[in-house]
Amino acid sequence: MEKFIVHGGSSLSGNVNISGSKNASLPILAATLLTREQCTIRRVPDVADTNYMLQILQNLGAEVERASGNVVIKCEKLRSHEAPYDLVRKMRASVCVMGPLLARHNRANVSLPGGCVIGDRPIDLHLKGLEGLGAEVTVEGGNVNLEARFGLNGNTLDMAGKHGATVLGTDNVMMAAVLAKGKTVINGAACEPEVVDLADFLISMGAKIEGAGTPVIEIEGVTELGGVEHTVIPDRIEAGTFLVAGAMAAKDTITLRRVKHEHLTSVIEVLKQCGCEISTTDTTITISKAKNPVGANITTEPYPGFPTDMQAQMCSLFAVTPGLSVVRDTIFPQRFMHASEMKRMGADIEVDDGTAVIKGVEQLSAAPVMASDLRASAALVLSGLTAKGNTEISRVYHIDRGYEHIDDKLIDLGASIERVPD
Ligand code: EPZ
Repeated sequence: MEKFIVHGGSSLSGNVNISGSKNASLPILAATLLTREQCTIRRVPDVADTNYMLQILQNLGAEVERASGNVVIKCEKLRSHEAPYDLVRKMRASVCVMGPLLARHNRANVSLPGGCVIGDRPIDLHLKGLEGLGAEVTVEGGNVNLEARFGLNGNTLDMAGKHGATVLGTDNVMMAAVLAKGKTVINGAACEPEVVDLADFLISMGAKIEGAGTPVIEIEGVTELGGVEHTVIPDRIEAGTFLVAGAMAAKDTITLRRVKHEHLTSVIEVLKQCGCEISTTDTTITISKAKNPVGANITTEPYPGFPTDMQAQMCSLFAVTPGLSVVRDTIFPQRFMHASEMKRMGADIEVDDGTAVIKGVEQLSAAPVMASDLRASAALVLSGLTAKGNTEISRVYHIDRGYEHIDDKLIDLGASIERVPD
C-alpha cells in the first residue's frame, strides 16, 4: 500500500487538465456488451475502477485493448453471462453489466455488491426496473440471477426511490430497454450528465432514446446495435475537487481545462456564495480564493442539485472558512467518514443524522489520517494542502480508484506531495 505526505502551506497556480469522467466511462464500457461490433471509447480515465470494469468485460469474453486514454472493445464472442463476486466486491458499479447482459443473453448472473463506507448500497430499484421489463429475478448465495426466457418487453417503469433517482439503476434499465420489444418509459429517471453521456453513446449505436437528462426517458426497442467511437464527457467531480483546491490554496487563480462548466452549476454557485471569483469559457473554469471567505449551507440532491460526490470536499473548505457552515447529505446520510479524520487535524465538525455543522478554524494541523472512500480521501488531500505541517494520508488506493494521477496534477499546480510506501 502507499500513502501521501502532503506538505502544508501550498500555494497553487497554473492550469490543470481534467480527465474523462469515471462515472460516465463505467456504464459506457458496460454498454459495449450490447453489440458484437468494435467500439472505441476515448478519454477513459486510467483509474482502478475503469480497470476493474475492463477486467469484468474480459472475464465475460470481451477483447480489450487500451492505449493511453483510448479503449477499444469488441464483445463479439461472449463466453459467460456471470460477473463473479471477487470482481463485483471490488467495485459496486459492476452491477451495471446486468442490463446489457440481460439484453444480450436474456440472462445475467451478477454478485450482489457489498455495502461500502458511504452507506448501504441497495439495488432494489435496479431489480424492480429489470423485472418490469420481464426479467425473473432470484437472489441466492449472494448472487442475483436474472432470466428473461421470452426476451425483454418494453414497459412503463417508475424508478424513483426514497432518496430520489438512481443513477446506475437508470443506466441498467436503459441498457436493457434499448433491445427490448416495444416501448419503455422510465419515470423518475436520473438526470445526471453521465446518464446523458450513456444515452448519447447508445443512440450513436442505433438506439432510439428521447428525454435523457430529464426525469422521463422514452425508449423504442430495436433489434440490434452497432459499434461506435465515442469520447467521454469531462469528469465534473474531479473538476469540482480542483475548484475547491483553488478556493482553498490558489495563490491568485488556477484554471481547469477540458471541462464543461455547465455540469457544475450548483458547485460554482456555492463557491461564488463563499466569495470565490469564478470565470468560465466553453472549455475552462478559472477560480480565485475568496478575499473575504464566508461559509454556506448546502444540501445534496440528485442532479442538477448539489452533488453528494462533492460534499466531502466542501467540508474541507468549510473547515477553514470563518463562521458556521452546514452540510446535509440526503443521498448518503452516512457519508461523513472524512469528518472524524478532519477532527484529528483540528477541524470543528459535529455530525448528526446526515448533517455536519462546521465551525471554521484558522488553520488545520497535520496529523496521520486514513483514506476511507474515494471522495473523503480527496477531501483529506485538500485539507493537507493548507494544514500546518505534513499530513500523512494512508490507504491512498481509495483515491486512485477515481482520480487520475491527482498527486501529479496537484504538484504541477505547485503543491508539494510525496507518494511513498505505507
Ligand atoms: C452513482 O452511484 C455514482 N457512481 C456515485 O459516485 C454517486 O455518489 C451516486 O450515483 C449518487 O449521485 C457511479 O456513477 C459509478 P444511486 P449509484 O443509485 O448509481 C439509493 C463516486 O464517488 N438507491 O444514484 O450507485 C442509494 O442508496 C461514487 O464516484 C436505492 O435505494 O447511486 C442512494 O441513497 C460514489 N436503491 C440513492 O438511491 C437502488 O436500487 C442514490 O443512489 C439504488 C439506489
